[in-house]
Amino acid sequence: MQTLQTSTPARLCYLHLASKAPQQQVDFYRRLLDMDSQAQADGSWLLQGPQRAMLVSPADHSGLLAAAYDLGSPTSLSLLRARLTERGCAIDAIDSPLLEAGAFQIRDPQGRQTVFGVSRGTPGSLLPGMPGRLQHVVFQTTELEAMIDFYVNTVGFTVSDTVVDQQSGQLTTCFLRSDDEHHSLAFFRGSKNEWDHHCYETNEWNDIRDWGDRFAKERITLFFGPGRHGPGNNLFFMVVDADRNRLEFSAELEITEASRPAGVWPQEEYTLNSWGRAWIRS
Ligand SMILES: [Fe+2]
Repeated sequence: MQTLQTSTPARLCYLHLASKAPQQQVDFYRRLLDMDSQAQADGSWLLQGPQRAMLVSPADHSGLLAAAYDLGSPTSLSLLRARLTERGCAIDAIDSPLLEAGAFQIRDPQGRQTVFGVSRGTPGSLLPGMPGRLQHVVFQTTELEAMIDFYVNTVGFTVSDTVVDQQSGQLTTCFLRSDDEHHSLAFFRGSKNEWDHHCYETNEWNDIRDWGDRFAKERITLFFGPGRHGPGNNLFFMVVDADRNRLEFSAELEITEASRPAGVWPQEEYTLNSWGRAWIRS
């Protein structure tokens, strides 16, 4: 079967956030993530930093409106569009200040929106700031199997690793890739359907140290990590932003060959953090 990885590799390129307090949120990402902001005509803010970008729209709630993936070329984008249409997935055209004309969005069976397009240049890659490429987004879901079915069989993601509760035999987590990186999307089984976190991939362990020091200066404490995840083998820590959305900084994420079979890990703290205590979603 054709997958995103083997036929139309896709990379996360920006997130579209809703915010009840957009000014505070914009200020957080400007100050702590070296992002520049531009007010947009529709009242949103466009934020760009080195290899990371975000749209923040005022709303009566805070959270994620959409995650956008860059297909790299119009040819790949039309191949993906044709494949999604063939598989019965509804497609809506969208305009985005970060994507060339022709971008579109889809909705998963629980209503999450994913945008696909071709990035306008490499947004912010030459901007000054600490290294951290927007790399993955993760959700909690009450319907894990249905989400895996949609993202694998309709969209074309590949399962890199799953985590299984050994007593019940139930899947608890699934890591999905859209190119050679271990995961650009993941789902945890939870009692609610909510945004779990997003992640910035740095160049090395010392970058994790420097990001930790930056948050320390503002008295923002890490709530998970530093540690190393089992699936993906990446070093990490997590903090929260001005709206209490969780964000992660990572290094050494596994590169996964297309031929590698999906792995299975037991649901235990060691899997989620081989260095210590883990945040177990419930
Ligand atoms: Fe993560």
